[in-house]
Parts: sequence; structure tokens; C-alpha cells
Amino acid sequence: MRPTTAAFPAARLRRLRRTRALRDLAQENHLSAADLIWPIFVREGVDVAEPIASMPGVNRLSIDRVVRAAQEAADLGIPAICLFPYTDAALRTEDCAEAWNPENLTNRAIRAIKAEVPDLAIMTDIALDPYNINGHDGLVVGETILNDETVECLVKMGLAQAEAGADILGPSDMMDGRIGALRTALEAAGHRDIAILSYAAKFASAFYGPFRDAVGASGRLVGDKATYQVNPANRLEALRCVARDVDEGADMVMVKPGMPYLDICRAVKDDFGLPTYAYQVSGEYAMLAGAAERGWLDGDKVMLESLMAFRRAGCDGVLTYFAPRVARMLAGRD
Ligand code: PBG
Repeated sequence: MRPTTAAFPAARLRRLRRTRALRDLAQENHLSAADLIWPIFVREGVDVAEPIASMPGVNRLSIDRVVRAAQEAADLGIPAICLFPYTDAALRTEDCAEAWNPENLTNRAIRAIKAEVPDLAIMTDIALDPYNINGHDGLVVGETILNDETVECLVKMGLAQAEAGADILGPSDMMDGRIGALRTALEAAGHRDIAILSYAAKFASAFYGPFRDAVGASGRLVGDKATYQVNPANRLEALRCVARDVDEGADMVMVKPGMPYLDICRAVKDDFGLPTYAYQVSGEYAMLAGAAERGWLDGDKVMLESLMAFRRAGCDGVLTYFAPRVARMLAGRD
């Protein structure tokens, strides 16, 4: 829609900016705790919160601590958390079998959370990188990341998460055909109401650096992910990925990273109209939190402004490591 305006002085756009009350009345977009998905890193142990150096304020939590975080999310009105495992080195293998072990960290965490905080939605990540000896999202043979064989693994992984009680499955691997294969397998297994939030427009980005530290994959990664993630220069290819995933049965779609890709967010929302999410990824968090830590930026203000930008760009919600902090702030508890 193209906004109309009269000529000066009939129109003085500053009239509606004069007081806080008038600015509030004229505000076009809003941010609330209900728009947030909180990504959480899980590790072994009891009562552990292990800081992640490149993500100030973010910790890897043992399962008992994750349950407490889940309770906090529910109390703050955050509807969903997303789990990422830090897998022990001994369990990272070439065949990635730990990924579909019903007793792996993620699946144990899902059951523990569901027992204590049943109403909170639990999202998972489906990709092999936390379990892979070489840090890739798919099975590796020589220099090649196998597609179809990887999809078979991802389906087993997703089914195990569904069995454990996940509400939303988030395939982040960018293999071709994974959404359709997963949807078919879920239907066949009677998991008809499990939602798929596809990491549909996922770019081959350098902004994932701190995340790879957080899940212990960075030192292992051989080469890069350019043969499966989208070239950051490509908009139409990203939209084709979304179209394909919607066609194969995705209920919701994601754009990732977030801030450098707001044009993609807007296009995805306008073109497809599905519930659309952005992932404000680890590198974006690190830039803002790191600069704030040095006193170079006002941390609260850039947090709010960056999250509001996603709403303005058409996103229904945001996956962000700021989730608990911004929710506390919006609730007036900080
Ligand atoms: C796994 C995955 C990644 C992220 C989410 N799921 C890393 C990657 O693709 O290399 C990144 C999240 C972040 O940077 O915060 N496939």
C-alpha cells in the first residue's frame, strides 16, 4: 500500500510524533513475548551453566537447568523454545547414529521439559552437524555431502524427536526433499499434528560462527556449507526454496540469518502468507551483545530495535537468544 499525504502545512508529519501518547497511537508494529522462540543449548551434567565465550550472556545448560529455563519461558509468556545439543566428542561419528538415538540429549531434554512444563511448545533442530565427526549437516563421503542418504537419517532423527514429544520440528539441513520425506513419515507413524517449521531460506552465512562454537562443531567443519545452503547473493533461489518446502508440507517457514536478510523476510511473507519467522542468529547476537558489553551500543535499545525490525519486515516471530531478556523487559521486570 502506498501511503498518501497532503502538502505542507496541511500535513505536518511531526504532529503525531509530538508526545509519547500520540506516538503510541500511531505505532504500526508491535513486539510481544508471544512473538519469540528462545533457542537453548543443552549439555550433559547436573546444575551446569557453562558460558559460551562468543555469545556473552548465553550458556550451555544441563537438562535440569533447561527445565528451569523452560519454566521461565512459560512464566514470561514465551510460547516456544528450540533445543540445540552440545554432543560429547565420543558420540560424534561418521554415520551420525546418535542423531536418532531416543536417549540422546535432545530427546531426554524434551521428555524432561514436557513432564514439568507441558504447555510450552518445544521446537527441535533437524540436521546432523551436532553428531557428525566433520561438522557437516549431512553424511560426508570424500568431498561430497550425500543428499538422499542424509534425508533418510533426518527422517529417523525427526521421528525420534516426535516420539519424545516435540511439537515443532525444524529441519535446518537444506537437503533436497527432506520436508516431503519427513511429512510422509510423520503421517505414516500417526504423528499427524506435529508441525514442521522449515528453515526454508537458509543462507550459507558467516554469521553462524558463534553457534558452531556453542554446539562444538566449528573446529571439526571440513570446508564450508556452500553446496547445500543458499548463496547470500540470491533472492529468487531463496524464494524457490520456500515454495518447494511449502509444497512438500511445511506449516511455517523461516528466513536465516535475520538482520542482513530482511528483504527476504518481506518477500516470503508477501508471496506465501504463511507464518513466517526469522532467526536472529548467533553472529547477530554476538555483534550486538559484544558491542554493548564494551559500552559501544545501548544493549537494551539495539535489542528492541533489531527485533522490531523483523516485525516491520513482516515476520510473525523471531528466534532470538535475546528472548528471555526482551520478554523480561516487555513485562516490566527489568
Ligand atoms: C545447524 C544449524 C546452524 C544454526 C542453526 N542450526 C548452523 C549451521 O547451519 O552451520 C545456526 C544458528 C545460529 O547461528 O544461531 N544446521
